[in-house]
Amino acid sequence: MNIGAQGLAIAGAALTLGPVRRVIGPMKEYLFPILNFGVFVWFCIGVPMKRRVPLHAGWMTLGFAMDTALLLFIELDRSAIAQLGGRMNTWLQVHIGIATLLIVWYPVLLFTGGMVSAGAPLKRHKQLAISFLVLRLLLAVTAVLAMAAKAT
Ligand code: HEM
Repeated sequence: MNIGAQGLAIAGAALTLGPVRRVIGPMKEYLFPILNFGVFVWFCIGVPMKRRVPLHAGWMTLGFAMDTALLLFIELDRSAIAQLGGRMNTWLQVHIGIATLLIVWYPVLLFTGGMVSAGAPLKRHKQLAISFLVLRLLLAVTAVLAMAAKAT
């Protein structure tokens, strides 16, 4: 590619990226809460799949992977762990408390799911799953409340 064509390509990219950034920029603030609710909706969609066990198990495990990726994404974007030493609003404290609880909930839920598919009674998995879904919804709600409290 000659210099003129390169210049044109760079100018073209700059012209397209500008408007894209202007749209994405303000949206970025809402990106995490949207993704957070999105993963909750993903889990809800996985519940009616329960009769097709391999699909249900794969779907839920993928949800777990997405939640882990979201956590890494937030850490890389905002150094969330380093902020833990600083002042936190009450909703953020509640949010972090729920997130910490969920770290324990996940492996237990996936394990009991495996046990049910191997023939164990459903009761424990069902109880854990319902409490998990309530906690996961509260996680998404408190994320929004913490963000709103920080903005005021
Ligand atoms: C975040 C993870 C998970 C959640 C939230 C979840 C949620 C649920 C819920 C709500 C039910 C329905 C209980 C009922 O009958 O009312 C269920 C059933 C079941 N789940 Fe899970 N689950 C998860 C992961 C898994 C995994 C990883 C496996 C397997 C490895 C699994 C295997 C099963 C089985 C075998 C049933 C019973 C299906 C039947 O009724 O025949 N689950 N799960």
